[in-house]
Formats: sequence, structure tokens, C-alpha cells
Amino acid sequence: MNRDRRRRFDSYPGSVSKRELTVVVLAAGGGTRMKSKTMKVLHQVGGRSMVGHVLSAVRAVEPDRVVAVVGHQREQVGPHIQEWLPDAVLAVQESQDGTGHAVRVAMEALEREGSLGEGTVIVAYGDTPLLQGDSLRAFAAEHEAAQCAVSILSGVVDDPTGYGRVVRDEEGEVLAIVEEKDATRELREIREINSGILAFDAAFLAEALPQLDNDNAKGEYYLTDCIRIAREAGLSVGAYPIDDVRQTEGANDRVQLAELGRELNRRIVTAWMREGVTVMDPATTWIDADVVLERDVTILPGSQLLGATVVAEDAVIGPDTTLKDCEVGVGARVVRTHGELAVVGAGATVGPFSYLRPGTLLGARGKIGAFVETKNAQIGEDAKVPHLSYVGDAGIGEGTNIGAGTIFANYDGVAKHRTRIGRQARTASNSTFVAPVTVGDGAYVASGSVVTKNVAPDALAITRSEQGERPGWAAKFRTMMERRKANRAAE
Ligand code: UD1
Ligand code: CA
Repeated sequence: MNRDRRRRFDSYPGSVSKRELTVVVLAAGGGTRMKSKTMKVLHQVGGRSMVGHVLSAVRAVEPDRVVAVVGHQREQVGPHIQEWLPDAVLAVQESQDGTGHAVRVAMEALEREGSLGEGTVIVAYGDTPLLQGDSLRAFAAEHEAAQCAVSILSGVVDDPTGYGRVVRDEEGEVLAIVEEKDATRELREIREINSGILAFDAAFLAEALPQLDNDNAKGEYYLTDCIRIAREAGLSVGAYPIDDVRQTEGANDRVQLAELGRELNRRIVTAWMREGVTVMDPATTWIDADVVLERDVTILPGSQLLGATVVAEDAVIGPDTTLKDCEVGVGARVVRTHGELAVVGAGATVGPFSYLRPGTLLGARGKIGAFVETKNAQIGEDAKVPHLSYVGDAGIGEGTNIGAGTIFANYDGVAKHRTRIGRQARTASNSTFVAPVTVGDGAYVASGSVVTKNVAPDALAITRSEQGERPGWAAKFRTMMERRKANRAAE
């Protein structure tokens, strides 16, 4: 075995057992019912692909090796799998001739790599986003303790339609898995189903795979026929019902995808509440799997925390806020805001109705207020952009106040340029900074100025024309207009 690979997987906590462990993830099917140009296992829930959730669970049990079976759109699926598990072996299944065929392809790929292991082989599917590492670990432990040739992670469900049924004899011994299409009406009544996750003794699997045939209703090589083969050889078979059957549920279409997404979200939100996060309305709060929240964070209704967003203690998010890959500091307040790749400092306030685009960095106690859009903008500590402004490609020093309705004109039609405003500056309402331009520390800019040249520290810049006045003009104008109106009425 590749020693580097072993070291990599060993770095994750909680070893499953002393036996070698191989995990096979089946991800070759096309997922036609998704009606999508995107392969089924790449569809997202909770901020990860479905197969990403599965691989995260697989990684948690520190297998000695992982082999993923890819077929449809393997140019996308393969690299995606290796982003999650760089050491995963990819096995290509050219045509999807059944789960038994897929596992045979997986074993052949391991053999070619010279890393066909012994011990236990777990087979899982790439489309079960609720699967947890703990469940795989417990199942592997039960399988190994019972010294079975093959074990089934089963489930008892109200509606077994579509699943393979676990057939037991009077003593409760497992005899076979019979697929729905091959089952008699009597067998279809069985409510114990094959979740799809199976555990094998590696030596038995190697003997059983060549014995599979495709003489069945679907004309496929069923992996599940290994159970009958084991029993015929007098070997023991176990079936362990999982309490939380949803963990093994797959999404075949977008309706199921949405249902699993909602359930995943419910679990994530519940877990954060148990960790000390206040969520006012769990039903309208969406939190991705990779989000990190500290204690005493408060999330108000209608908020989505997505991607790798991190929110620190005592911060309040929402209502109606979406943050993707954002970082929010201790005690900050973000109200009715859309943010992406932005950092909000401790004690800062954002919103309502703010749009934080990538590269926004708001310092501690700073403020980005109503109807303000920011992009690639570093706004210093205690600095404020309170109202109706666009701040793009800008640096604003600490303690500076930007007046209402200020535009940082960063684009000359060809290239983007930067504006630098120093510390403790005061720029008045309705100014435009035509980049590249620099305003020194402590400078003032008069309202309505279009600033095209640098402003020295502590200076006042004023670019608008001086105000003139025509005494009595308005009164004369009104008299003239009234006379016109009277003439028109007389015509
Ligand atoms: C399979 C099981 C069934 C179980 C059910 C649970 C078999 C024969 N049947 O049925 O007992 O109750 O799952 O969901 O194993 N795949 C490949 N290559 C193939 C065929 C399938 O990679 O050649 C992958 C698919 O992408 C999918 C998974 O294996 O992720 C299951 O295949 P599918 O055809 O959906 O099996 P089911 O008929 O649902
Ligand atoms: Ca299926």
C-alpha cells in the first residue's frame, strides 16, 4: 500500500478498527431524472455537491483507500472527487451495467494500482447527502464484530417502493436481497429495505464478484446477489437497520433534492442552536454545511449563511440577509444585506439594504449604511459610508466619513483605478472621486465636488462653480406664468 496515502487518511480522528478498510463510492450513473446538464452527484445541497457530503462522511472514517466509480461526465465528476480526496482512486465504468459490475470495475482499478486490500470493503453511493461518518463507522464495527462475509445497512420504512427488500427466514437470518422488479407481490410487502450501503469481507467479495450474472428483470449485474452467494456458501450475512434512514436516502430528481436539502438544513440549524446560536425562525434560516458560528450569534428570519461564512460571538445577522463566504466580527450587526467574500469587523454595522461585493473589508466599528454598494474596498476602523454610495476599488482611512450619495468612479471605460482617502477625512454629500485620485489625511471635500486631482492633507477641495443669485427673479417668473395662464383661458 502507498504509505503516503495511509498517512493522509490517518490524520483524521477516530479510527474505525484495526482491520484495513476500503470504501467504494458509486458515482457512475447519469441521473436522467434530474433532467439536467449537471451530473446528479454534482448537484448541490447545503453548499456542497451531494458526492461532497458523501466523501466528507467517508473521510471521517479514515479508510486506508477510497475508490470512486465514475462514468457519466467523468471529466467533471473525477476531478471534483479528487478535490475532496486527492488520494482517491478513480475507476472508470464505461457503461452502467449494474452495481455489481461497478464494484468489479472498482476492484480491478485497485488491482491495477497494486493496492487491492484485505479486511473490509464498504460500498456506498454518491448521492446520499445526509450520510454521516459515524453511521459508516458503527456499521463497519458491527460487520467486523459479527465476522460476516457481507453485511447490509438496512432500514425499516413505511414505503419500500423502489428498494431491494431484505428477505429473512423464520429465525430472522438474512437469506437474500430481492430487487423490487424481481420481487413477488408477497416479497414486496417486506418493509425492511437495502439502503444500498453494504460491507464485505474483501476476500469474499473477490470470490463473489465473478459469480454475479445479469439474469434478472433489469438485465444488470446486481451487487445485492452477493448475499445469496454468501448464504449458498454457508457464510454468515448480517443486516443492521439504521434508525435514521434519511442518511441513506438518495435524490433521484429535483423534488427529492429539495426535500433532502430542507432536511439537511433542518439538521444543521438544529445543531447550531444546540451549540448556543439563537435562530429566531429555523424554517426561513439556511445555513450551509461549512459555515462556522460562535456562541451567542443571533440569526433573524429570512437569512442565508452560505459557503465558508464565519460569524463571531454576539453578532446579529438579518433579517433577510444573505452572506456567502463572508467573515463577520464579534458583535457586528448586518441587517437586510447581500454580501459575498466580504469581511465585517468587530462591532461594525452594515445595512439595511447594503450590497457587499468581493474584497470589501470593513474595519472594527465601521459602518456601511443604507443603499451602499462596496467592491474591493478597504474601509478603516471607525470609518463610515452611511448612505446611498458606491465605493469601488478604494481605500478609506480610519475615522473618515464619506458623505451621502458619494460615487467612487473607478472605471474609465477601459481599466479600473483606485481611490485613496486618508484618515479622519470628511467628504461631503454628492461628491464623485474620479480614480485614480488620492485625498490626504484630515482633508475635507465640499459637497457636490467632482474630484479629479489629488487633495493635500488638511486641505479643502471644492470643485463646483460658485453660487450666483438674481434678486426677485422667482417672483417675476411666477407673475409671468400666471399672466400666460389667464390669456390661454380667455382664448
Ligand atoms: C440499488 C440496490 C437496491 C437498494 C437501492 C438503494 C442493487 C442491485 N440494488 O437499487 O437493493 O435498495 O440501491 O437506493 O444494488 N451505479 C453505478 N454504476 C452502475 C449502476 C449503478 O455507478 O452500473 C450507481 C448509481 O449511480 C447509483 C447507485 O449506484 O448511485 C445505485 O444504482 P441504482 O441503479 O440507482 O440502483 P437501484 O435500482 O436504486
Ligand atoms: Ca437509486
